[in-house]
Amino acid sequence: MRCVRGVTRSIAERPLVLVTGKGGVGKTTVSAALAIAAQEARQKTLVAEITSDPLATSPLLTHWGTQFTQRLDQPVTLGANLDGVQISPSAGHRLFLRAALRVGVLADAAMRSSALNRFLLAAPAFPEIGVLYQLVWLWRLKKYERIIVDLPATGHALGLVKLPRTVTRVVPKGLVKDAITEGLEILTNRDQCGTIIVTLPERLPVTESFELHQGLQEVGVSVGALLLNRMPEDVFSAGEREVLGQYIATHQDELLLGSREFRRLGQATRARAAFYQQAAPLLELKSVELPVFDGEWRSVINAAAQGLVKTGLALGPRGQ
Ligand SMILES: Nc1ncnc2c1ncn2[C@@H]1O[C@H](COP(=O)(O)OP(=O)(O)OP(=O)(O)O)[C@@H](O)[C@H]1O
Ligand SMILES: [Mg+2]
Repeated sequence: MRCVRGVTRSIAERPLVLVTGKGGVGKTTVSAALAIAAQEARQKTLVAEITSDPLATSPLLTHWGTQFTQRLDQPVTLGANLDGVQISPSAGHRLFLRAALRVGVLADAAMRSSALNRFLLAAPAFPEIGVLYQLVWLWRLKKYERIIVDLPATGHALGLVKLPRTVTRVVPKGLVKDAITEGLEILTNRDQCGTIIVTLPERLPVTESFELHQGLQEVGVSVGALLLNRMPEDVFSAGEREVLGQYIATHQDELLLGSREFRRLGQATRARAAFYQQAAPLLELKSVELPVFDGEWRSVINAAAQGLVKTGLALGPRGQ
């Protein structure tokens, strides 16, 4: 995949995709769907979940089987062309220690070293450093055409860049600094990495997704797309909506079947309008939506994978 000068690669073509957004908006669903779409496009894909608790059941990887007996801090095969992994601060720290020991640094000497002490002084960033280290380690395997990362909460996409950037100023040359520097270069290279901000058709989540967009831009991370997820289907014409709205408003004390859903649809439609209105001036930003899909998780993910291909956030099956 080559990049034409001056034209940024679309999010569907970037090797590293970070899926971010507030809690419960559909990040895991979108990550799994992107992974399935990439697999169908026959790209060698790694789908990764960032977690602070690697021992807990993985909401993402259970889509491919609940019976993982091995640790998931190393890639496991999920299917043809598709591996899965859990990224966690502790796994990152362990990988770092292994690498450090291999180059001859003894653990106790390392613990006495002022370099490590200075590193530990940057303690608030320690989890992010572990996560970034493991991400770089996976990247360096050069095994995958696409790495899709399911981030746990809004703060993390920013934290992944903000805190390590501060840390690079205090840590001396060496393994950690090299890895952080490489990680930051990857995350801020708009042809290699892009984020997808997932949001819902509700007033506050829409506002917050644009704040996150702004925050990511400030730290140099490219936002490839904003995705309005779970947009309810609107079966009414403008005229029908007005008549129904008036009827419900004048019969407030009656129990009208469907009136709550109708009101919710109204709120979603207004949030959707605000979403596209705020996105309009951001010319480079791809703004798309996915409907509410019926069925259990698996069928929702498969339907979402098809939806993402249609919206251009994922490549279609090869040959299409
Ligand atoms: N487009 C959709 N249509 C129908 N259901 C959806 C859709 N997107 C997500 N869901 C459902 O919404 C719920 C929350 O989705 P998901 O777990 O992907 O959110 P999340 O952002 O990863 O949450 P968390 O912040 O807790 O990790 C799930 O039950 C999922 O099946
Ligand atoms: Mg999730």
